[in-house]
Amino acid sequence: MRGTTEGINLAAQSYVKPLLSAGDEIIPTHFEHHANIVPWQMIAQETGVLIKVAPVDDTGQIILSRYAELFSHRTKFVSVTHVSNALGTITPVREMVQIAHGHGVRILIDGAQPILRRFGPKATVRPTIAFYNTTEEIDKLASAIRELA
Ligand SMILES: Cc1ncc(COP(=O)(O)O)c(C=O)c1O
Repeated sequence: MRGTTEGINLAAQSYVKPLLSAGDEIIPTHFEHHANIVPWQMIAQETGVLIKVAPVDDTGQIILSRYAELFSHRTKFVSVTHVSNALGTITPVREMVQIAHGHGVRILIDGAQPILRRFGPKATVRPTIAFYNTTEEIDKLASAIRELA
């Protein structure tokens, strides 16, 4: 995979789309990068799913209680960024994963920014996307990338 955009598109088309029927729901947040908006808009046009956006408050933080309220029995997928490229906000992904999993819903984390932060300004390689749900999995991904560097 050449980058995060390609990874999200691949996940959206090959993994998520087959799970969806018209009227199902997908949750992104208000401050997603285009790479994590366009694939879901395309899927919404193709399948008739609804996109319910998790809101952000005046200080640029996700309103977790409102995010939690968006879940319904039609929620099929969540796709959120870990660090906003526009605001620098770090989203509470641990809690967001717990809430999604509490509803039996899978969640994709756009890790483009946090992985770069982890490796500092010398990092020049774009990360690919991964499904990671635990800090152990994030650490494994980070070590694998470090070995390549
Ligand atoms: C949060 C976020 N997601 C996705 C992307 C797209 O990444 P890529 O260039 O690897 O496709 C970026 C690029 O800056 C980003 O900041």
